[in-house]
Amino acid sequence: RSLVNKGKKHLFKKLLNSNQSTCRCVFFRKYSGSEKRFLSFDEIVAQRRGEAKRSIVVQVNSEASFKELYGYCSKYATIKDVHHYKNSNDEHFMLIEFGSEESLQDVLRSCSTHQKDVDIMALNSPFLWFRASNGRTESYATPATVLASINGIEQVDEDKLFKDLVECDTVSDQIQLLYDRTRLNDLGARLRYMVARQIECMLESLYANVAVRPFGSSINGFGKMGCDLDLVLTNTLTDEMMKAGSRLVYQDKRTEGSRAPWARHMQCVADLLELRVAGAARVQRILNARVPIVKFAHHYTDLECDLCYNNMSGVYMSELLWLFGSLDDRVRPLTFAVRRWARAVGLTNPHPGRWITNFPLTLMVLFFLQQKTNDGHVLPTLKNLVRRAGKEDIRIAEENLNCTFLRDMNKLPSECYAQNKANLQTLLLQFFEFYSQFDFKEKAISINEGASIRKPNSLPLYIVNPLEQALNVSRNVSFEECERLKAEVRNAAWQLEAGMDKQKGDDWGLLALVEKKTTRGLKKLLRVGNSHRLVSVKDLFNDTDDKIPEASVKNKIE
Ligand code: GTP
Ligand code: MG
Repeated sequence: RSLVNKGKKHLFKKLLNSNQSTCRCVFFRKYSGSEKRFLSFDEIVAQRRGEAKRSIVVQVNSEASFKELYGYCSKYATIKDVHHYKNSNDEHFMLIEFGSEESLQDVLRSCSTHQKDVDIMALNSPFLWFRASNGRTESYATPATVLASINGIEQVDEDKLFKDLVECDTVSDQIQLLYDRTRLNDLGARLRYMVARQIECMLESLYANVAVRPFGSSINGFGKMGCDLDLVLTNTLTDEMMKAGSRLVYQDKRTEGSRAPWARHMQCVADLLELRVAGAARVQRILNARVPIVKFAHHYTDLECDLCYNNMSGVYMSELLWLFGSLDDRVRPLTFAVRRWARAVGLTNPHPGRWITNFPLTLMVLFFLQQKTNDGHVLPTLKNLVRRAGKEDIRIAEENLNCTFLRDMNKLPSECYAQNKANLQTLLLQFFEFYSQFDFKEKAISINEGASIRKPNSLPLYIVNPLEQALNVSRNVSFEECERLKAEVRNAAWQLEAGMDKQKGDDWGLLALVEKKTTRGLKKLLRVGNSHRLVSVKDLFNDTDDKIPEASVKNKIE
């Protein structure tokens, strides 16, 4: 299966032919109940945070600096891994992971600050640069076998992707390929945790027990290369810090002024990002919203970041999506195909506005996968996961929000998921057919129930917030945009059904859905005589660069 996922189907087939029993043996060892099948979200996060605490990102002249840098750093500590990448300014960087956190501290102690510039105040940061050797030639012993890993952060080569999509054998293969090529890679994930760590390092000296964690698509398993970085800053009081027995208590610093204390602190964090975080630029403060956000760009990593405070429900929401995605191998590729299609037809848009965004769209896919067919369903309901939760799963987020649900998917009986074995091609077509017939006027989508429920109000699109069921995550979607969604799912169902045959040209299968629509494409569709399935030219190719309403900063701000 791992060979197939890596696009090496031929090797898998060869293995299968050469020694069936070995192959089956490998399969069973990995998937039989005796071994743990699912890692928990907390384990993954702990692993990523651990990696970041052992890593530095060093700017270098070029990839040729690798040997010298490797040799230099090896003097101080054991190196575990090196990843090279280039940002959009053509600057080269090496992410180096050391064997332990202590080793990293040894390396950091050996670092110096730029001495020439008196305006610069020393700072601690895992983002460094590698100075030229000053004429001294030192020779470093770098094992010939050690190479920097080359999974870069640059955007996917779309031309090559489309060429390879044309060559696929089936629509299922196309969906899998799209996912494999465009999903966030290991380096992308590492760098996101490095940015979080950099801010955490800066704030550690100011706030006790502070943590900065990524959430959203960077960690929920549905992130693509280049997706934005959502960060949450928490500053929690532990039981230890609040123990009643201690007679020595910290003097409090109360925040003065009419603003909520954390809006004041976020203002300060925004200033610190400008003053103390190397690589952070274009800092924007959006502090009057219910969830204050500081937006900034991070140049060294090419990331657009949103930092908010104490939004643990966002992290638990990401965990929930991650768990659903981990239950069945088809969930993430299918969601990628749907998100990509929605972007291509202009249903989603990088700017916030009156249209649907990736998060509610993902909930729509999960909801579809919860539907019972004759063969059963692919995903369980959230209600089911809540019912099975134990004491260890209890999580209470801000404003007393109960975010308790089963976290260990190994405890979920196998009949609760993956009963339906349909392939990706069938699922994608069924997704479009399902929503072509969905009663958006009367019904709301709820992954808690796994069944549609009556809409509590007349908003055009109603998708229940899984963790705060009184809220609608698509409340920003206008009537026109909802109509467009309905029209586009109908068109997609027709296009996919009509274009399954590979022989039909360059835009067969998934390609017809994910290629950006052009007038040429439209003419072609009209020529084939099925124009009755198309809603209207205006609807299909609506200019989505409408003015964005000032108030709708981001639809997650409720
Ligand atoms: P992309 O950034 O588009 O790749 O997807 P994303 O999942 O990261 O979405 P976004 O950046 O808009 O939001 C980040 C996270 O915030 C989501 O994954 C959700 O966990 C959460 N979120 C987004 N919208 C809402 C909302 O309307 N209500 C609530 N409670 N949480 C939301
Ligand atoms: Mg995001």
